[in-house]
Amino acid sequence: MANLGGAREWARAFIESHLTEGAKVIDATMGNGHDTVWLAKLVGETGKVYAFDVQPEAIANTKKRLEDENLLHRACLYLKGHENIGLTVRSMVDAAVFNLGWLPGFEKSVRTKCDTTLSAVNQALSMLKIGGIMTICVYPGHQEGDEELKALTEWAQNLNEKQFDALIFRYANISKKPPVLIAVTKRK
Ligand SMILES: C[S@@+](CC[C@H](N)C(=O)[O-])C[C@H]1O[C@@H](n2cnc3c(N)ncnc32)[C@H](O)[C@@H]1O
Repeated sequence: MANLGGAREWARAFIESHLTEGAKVIDATMGNGHDTVWLAKLVGETGKVYAFDVQPEAIANTKKRLEDENLLHRACLYLKGHENIGLTVRSMVDAAVFNLGWLPGFEKSVRTKCDTTLSAVNQALSMLKIGGIMTICVYPGHQEGDEELKALTEWAQNLNEKQFDALIFRYANISKKPPVLIAVTKRK
């Protein structure tokens, strides 16, 4: 890890500075549940985390992790692709967290894909409350990751500046394509 941290740490710092007790949050890529548990702690007893993944193992691992911390009641776990967020979560949300790619230690072929990622970030954006935030950690260096970074960079650059603030955080001088953070807040 470089001294200035990495995409996941930057994402966590942004989310932690925005969320308060009672927040509703989407975890669009549940994976092993590390982010779901972290978010469940942040939203407190009155908040809710809506977490999505396409792999049964992700649900099982996340459920176990939440149970171990007595946090399961703060989360709704969906065995669905995040391209179904809009049909599934029926309320506006304070934040949406995307951590793209594949589940470490599992089948790499089950990974996020450009088309469904774009669909999901657009759905999540339309569900963000004013003042809400979305973070997207993107992992270039393999085909889908490179495609996602290109498409999401264009997507972020084209967001209406009157309605959104969009940032792209990346290292300027590291050649081996470290993860990139895209963060968007809804201004109005
Ligand atoms: C890098 S991992 C997420 C790590 C996770 N946030 C954590 O804290 O452990 C990416 C996850 O995205 C999931 N994924 C792939 N396609 C998806 C889709 N269409 N919708 C939701 N999740 C998807 C993968 O199964 C994988 O678990």
